[in-house]
Formats: sequence, structure tokens, C-alpha cells
Amino acid sequence: MTTVSVNGPGATSSTKGPQPEGARPAAEATPVLEARGLVKAFGHVVGLAGVDLQLYQGEVLGLIGDNGAGKSTLIKCLTGALQPDRGELYLEGRRVSFRSPLDSRLAGIETVYQTLAVSPALDIASNMFLGREIRVKGFMGTVFRKLDHRAMRKQAGEQMSRLGIATLQDMGQHVETLSGGQRQAVAVARAAAFGSKVIVLDEPTAALGVRESNQVLDLVRRLRDHGMPVILISHNMPHVFEVADRVQIQRLGRCAGVVRPAETSMEEAVAVMTGAKVL
Ligand SMILES: Nc1ncnc2c1ncn2[C@@H]1O[C@H](COP(=O)(O)OP(=O)(O)OP(=O)(O)O)[C@@H](O)[C@H]1O
Ligand SMILES: [Mg+2]
Repeated sequence: MTTVSVNGPGATSSTKGPQPEGARPAAEATPVLEARGLVKAFGHVVGLAGVDLQLYQGEVLGLIGDNGAGKSTLIKCLTGALQPDRGELYLEGRRVSFRSPLDSRLAGIETVYQTLAVSPALDIASNMFLGREIRVKGFMGTVFRKLDHRAMRKQAGEQMSRLGIATLQDMGQHVETLSGGQRQAVAVARAAAFGSKVIVLDEPTAALGVRESNQVLDLVRRLRDHGMPVILISHNMPHVFEVADRVQIQRLGRCAGVVRPAETSMEEAVAVMTGAKVL
């Protein structure tokens, strides 16, 4: 497994740093991921009405907005799950277009979608390695494609402990027997393990208890502190304001503004979100 190395479970990380060099978006810095003028309509329903987004190296970008504001549609257009009607995407300054989520994964973007994509019939390790299975060495692996379950379980277990996810013990446990929060933890762990350029999390803490939510937020911080940019969508404003460096506010299919939690209060952000305040 090519892992993003994060600190061990006991590692401490402060809310706002230390920031790796270049974490602060300088005016001239090239965004790791950029969208320009994304438009997406579903018949008469406007999903996105011309949205820009910039994600810079080593930052957490929060994405907030009311139900139906277009957050998930934006993410899907960024990651190939939907094709935008208009607009452009740039990865590290190069124009890209993703025809499927697999395309964006191959390009280094790992996404946990709001409607969770884990396979209930498979065990935790198999879910972790879905699409990237380890085969046994030699003839049995190359010709008969025999899976190396032992290696996958071992590496999956190592990844869980690196991420401090203590609630998952047996990597051979079938995902259908896990709680909603534990399933979410599997999906987030997989994204953190394989994302090489960008990690996108759509409501990663929605189904989680307090302890598990804190673990996911801590993981997001650790990824950021190791230079990995993260897009975090959440309805939980305290969560977003706790970890995000910048917060993009979506309203009615448009970007209503981008604020910095260090300079803007949650109340102001909510006012922009609801249209009570215009930036
Ligand atoms: N496949 C679809 N077909 C028709 N309309 C859609 C489709 N997907 C999204 N929409 C519409 O596009 C708009 C944006 O939806 P989206 O799921 O992006 O909102 P969201 O900001 O993620 O909301 P939530 O906070 O509830 O997750 C909504 O009006 C929604 O009904
Ligand atoms: Mg959504």
C-alpha cells in the first residue's frame, strides 16, 4: 500500500499547524486542484451555476451550504462522478477531465462520497484494497489471480492503527456487520491510505459518534500537516471551523464567498450561507 505517512495514534497536532512550507496560499501559487466556471443542470434544476474552486497545497478547504446548495454536485463534478455541462478542471495547473471516479483516483484524488461506497459483503481489508488487490506471489497470483488476504489484512490493520482507528480490530470482519460509523471509518481510512494528491470527504462525520468524529477530524489535521490538501464538506459548522484553513460557502448553486475561520465568525458564515449577509 502506498500510504500517506501520518503520525502514529498517539501523535498530537494543534488545530492550526504547524503549517508546512507553502501551506498558505500565496497569490502566485498554483492550486493543486482548481475548477473554473462549473455548470451542471439536472433538467430544470440548477445544481451548479458557474462555480470556481481553488484548493492549495497543504490546506483544508471547508465546503459549507444548505441542503441542495450544490456541494455534492460540485464534488462529483471535480472527481468524475458527474460530467459538468460547462467549465474546466485543472490538476497541478494542467487541464484535466475525468470521465469516471476511477479516472480521478488514478490521477491521485481519493474521494469519500456522501452516499457511502463500501461493499457490505466484503471484509474490511478487501474494502480497503478494492480495485488495488494484492495477489499472492508467483504462478497462483499471476495466472490464477489468487488474492493475498493475509498481506491485505496485515497492511489494513497497520493503516488503521496509524490512523488511530481503534474501533476496528478484526480486518477479516465483514463490513455489513459494522456500525454506520465504523463503515465510514473504513471509507475514510481507504481514502487516506491511497490519496496521493487530494483527499475529498463529503460529510465524513455525519454518521459518527463524538469519539469517532474527533478521530476523523484529527486525521484530517494530520493529513494537512503532512502537506496533503483536503476538501471537507460538513453541515457541522464547529467541525468545519475547527479544522479548515479556508471555507467556501455555497448558496443556490453558486459560491457565495470564501472566508477564513481565523478572521470570520461562524455566525457570519451562516449569515452568508442563508443569504442574510452578502460578501
Ligand atoms: N441526479 C440528480 N437529479 C436531479 N437533481 C439533482 C441530482 N443531483 C442533485 N440534484 C439537485 O441539485 C441540487 C444540488 O444538490 P446537491 O446534492 O449537490 O446538494 P448538497 O449541497 O450536497 O446538499 P446536502 O447538504 O443535502 O447534501 C439540489 O437541488 C438537488 O435536488
Ligand atoms: Mg450533499
